[in-house]
Parts: sequence; C-alpha cells; structure tokens
Amino acid sequence: MKKFYITTPIYYPSGNPHIGHCYTTVACDTIARYKRMQGYDVMFSTGTDEHGMKIEESAAKAGKSPKEYVDEIAERFVQLWKYMNISYDRFIRTTDEHHKESVQKIFTQLHEKGYIYKGEYSGKYCVPDESFWTASQLKDGKCPECGREVIDAKEEAYFMKMQPFAAQIEELLTGSDFLQPAARVNEMVNNFIKPGLEDVCVSRTTFKWGVQVPFDPDHVVYVWIDALSNYITLLGHENDKHDDMHYWTGSEVMHMTAKEIVRFHSIIWPAILMGLELPLPDKLYSHGWINFGGKKMGKSTGNIIDPFVLGERFGVDAVRYQILREMPFSGDFDFTNELMLTRINTDLANDLGNLVSRTVAMVIKYFSGSLPSNPADRTSGDFDDELIMLATGLREKIDALIDVPQLSQALAEIFTVISRANKYIDETTPWILAKDDEQKPRLAAVLYNLLETIRICTSLLAAFMPTTMPLVWAQIGVGGDDVTYDKATWNDGFAYTVTKGDIIFPRFDIAKELAEEQS
Ligand code: ME8
Repeated sequence: MKKFYITTPIYYPSGNPHIGHCYTTVACDTIARYKRMQGYDVMFSTGTDEHGMKIEESAAKAGKSPKEYVDEIAERFVQLWKYMNISYDRFIRTTDEHHKESVQKIFTQLHEKGYIYKGEYSGKYCVPDESFWTASQLKDGKCPECGREVIDAKEEAYFMKMQPFAAQIEELLTGSDFLQPAARVNEMVNNFIKPGLEDVCVSRTTFKWGVQVPFDPDHVVYVWIDALSNYITLLGHENDKHDDMHYWTGSEVMHMTAKEIVRFHSIIWPAILMGLELPLPDKLYSHGWINFGGKKMGKSTGNIIDPFVLGERFGVDAVRYQILREMPFSGDFDFTNELMLTRINTDLANDLGNLVSRTVAMVIKYFSGSLPSNPADRTSGDFDDELIMLATGLREKIDALIDVPQLSQALAEIFTVISRANKYIDETTPWILAKDDEQKPRLAAVLYNLLETIRICTSLLAAFMPTTMPLVWAQIGVGGDDVTYDKATWNDGFAYTVTKGDIIFPRFDIAKELAEEQS
C-alpha cells in the first residue's frame, strides 16, 4: 500500500486558536481524506509547539505555570479540531516526554558530528518573535517579521553550521518541485542562499521553559530544532513510543505551513535532516494568510476570528468550504462576513443545495422517488454528452489539483460541474417533458444524469465537507460503496431511490446578517 504523510505546523499555544490555524489544518485534513479515499495508507499529524519565552511570559501573565497554561490551550486546539471534524492520526505536544527525549538525542548527534558548536550570539533581538536578526535584515530598524522594536542582545549559544548543506539545499529548492508555490523559491534563494547561508542559533540561556541541552544544562534547545523535529519524533525517531518511521522513509511526505515560516521549513529543516542523514520531505506547500482588516490575523495583533463562533453561525462545513475556496494558491485573502455569506448563498445554498433539492423533488414528483436502473429504459438526448463528459473527467482533474495542492481550484472545478448540471435542468426542461407520457424515458435519463452528477461531485466533495455530504447521500439514496473514490466516475446502472430531506445549506439574508453584526 502506498503511504502518504502530511503535517500541519505545530501551533504555539500562546493564545486561543483562530481561523488562520483552521485554514492549514482544514487544508491538510482535506488532502489526508482525499488520499485515504485514493487508497493511501495515510499518517496525518498536528500538534502544539509549547516551549519558549513567549509561552513563559504568557503563562506568567495568566498567573499560571507554563505547563498548566499550555495544558489548557493545547486542549482548546484538540477541541477545535474535533469540532472542525479534523481526521488527524496523531497530535504531538513538544512537552511530551518522548519528544523531549528524541530532541535531546538529535541535538547531541548533530553536536557529535560537528554540525553544532558553541559560540556567542550578539545581534538585534525581537522579544515577541523570539528571533535574532542581523542589522541588514532589519526593516527600518525594526523586526522584519512583525515590525516591532528590537533590542541589542548578546548570549553564549550553540549554533548549527549551514555551509555543509548549502549546495544541497540550493539544489533542493531550485532543482525540484519541493517548494510550492514556486514563487517562494526565488524569495528563499535571493534572500537567504545568495547572500550566503548564515549559521543558525539553536540554543538559549535567557529562559528555562524548553528542552535542556543534555551536555550543557544552562542551555535549552531553541525553538526551531525542538519544533521542526516534531515531524519525526512523533513517528518514533529516537524514541520507543512509536515505531512509524516508515512514514518518513518509505512514504510521500508533505508539509504545509503559511509563508512566514517557509524559511525554517525549506532551509533549516532540510539542513537538520541532512545532518541526521535522513531522507528529505517531498513537498512543502506554503500558503498565504487569511487577513482581517488588511492585516494578518494573528494572536499578537489581536484581530482574530473565533472558529467556534463562525461554526455555530454558519455550520462547520460552510466554514471549511469558505476558507478553502477563498485562499488563492499563492496570495492572501481578506476575511469578511460579507464574503463568507455570499459564498455560502451562491455556491452552497444556490448551486449545490438547489441542484440536490430540485432533482430530488422531481424524481419524487415524476417517478414516485425511484428511477429505472436499466439504461434501456432511458433515452439520451441533447446536452447529455457535455454533462457526462464533465462529470466523468472530474476525478482526474481533482487528483492532479490535490497533488499540487490547489484546493481552491479543485473546488472551483467541482462547482463548475455543479453549475453545468443546474444549466442542464434549464436546457432539458424536465417539467415540459413530464407533460408527455412518451417522453418518460427521456425524463428518466435527464434525472438519472443529474443524480449521477450529484453522486460524483459529492463523493469528491466529501474530502472537503465531510459532515454534510452524507446528508446529500441520504437524500439521493447512496452510501457506502457507492460514494467511494473508485466509483467517483460515470456509471449507467445505479438504482436510485430518493428521499426528501431537510435543506442542507440554508440561505442567509445577507443584509440582515450584516446589520445584526453592526448592532
Ligand atoms: O509558527 N493565515 O506557530 P503559530 C493563514 N510554532 N494561516 C495562519 C494564519 C493566518 N492568518 N495564522 C496562523 C508557529 N496560521 C510555530 C510553527 S512548525 C515546526 C512550528 C497558521 O501558532 C499557518 O499554518 O504561529 C502558520 O504557518 C501557522 O499557523 C503558524 O502558527
């Protein structure tokens, strides 16, 4: 069985999760579900990155110990993923004992191999971001990542050498399709590789909340070795908790992050793996940001949208759909309620919802709910070929788009077929066919083609919206084997029996909703 391993970043539990975290996790969940449908043996991981000065500070502010503090927020992430129907296989916390044990071994090995050495760090330090910067990296004298003030700081620290890996990293970035979207490759090459890769500081003495360097207990392992290693410690690298490194060595591996941490994943992580003589991941997709009011939604800026609130108001699948549909492959998007409401009304309520309810209603009205399953009892006619061709070719298109991954485009393709099916109703005018008994076989074909199209589209959509698609299936009378990946292509012999059900995606009165939000 082919294997597939997909990872989200491990999130900082320094504040509650927001819709930005949801994007990456829902995107990975969709891919994981799709790959499982395709028959892959999938490992899908997520988790929390719990060490560091920021957490220490947030805990102190909340009057809690760091561990009490992270326990609470990690639980909040677990609850959110449950709520969002995230099918992860493993949740790692960097405070897990087996993770800490592995990180210590990884650090020691890199030290023993001569890749980690002790030196002194002096530079410009951004406290909220826990990042040292060189003077040339600053933007207008401020932190290039968050725009805040930096301070002069100096400390004894361990460093990881980058030069031994520079050529291989450049080759990885420029000679393969590892990093997507490709525009990020130039950014990495121009900003970091061309100026010469600098050694990376990998320990700290300024705080205690972290994994201790085993041979020098004044130091804790600095965030990136601790955090990045999660991708292999959770599989059991250098610990006895798991024995799943086959998902790393004999599998397709895909990491997903947003763009602000692409440097760590495309340069530092490969260097660590090269130092450990482990294989490199196959793909890193670094998507854009969900912005709010023109700024990146983030805990530190406070402009966050609570996914629980959105889910209660619009439904979890509508939220999943909207963020996946709206995020462009290589850009950002600005979240607004209006955009969300428009998407729900147009795509989910009008296009998909109406297609299902109109089709089901007509099958009930004209055929008492059951269509003839024998193709001989159906007559093909104008407009059939185009619809059948579109629905038949859909799965192959989605396969390719999931692999990039271009999830928004994948949804656009599915909804093109759904819109085509709605147009097909207008073109074939079943209500006119129904007036003439001789047209019954033609009417049966039209409704059959619509149900087949719905079955194919919703089978593929189930990876994106896993809660609501089974509700559609209940209405068109399919389930189990009928809605598998293998069957997500045209079939002439289904025996459809439909049942009227509730509205799956209710329409919102946009003006009223927006007015309520203002009040
Ligand atoms: O960086 N839009 O954790 P973090 C889109 N612990 N995605 C967003 C987003 C937004 N507005 N806000 C957050 C860390 N994300 C480290 C990672 S991995 C070894 C260590 C998502 O809590 C996106 O995936 O700041 C981004 O990269 C990640 O959350 C950052 O999460």
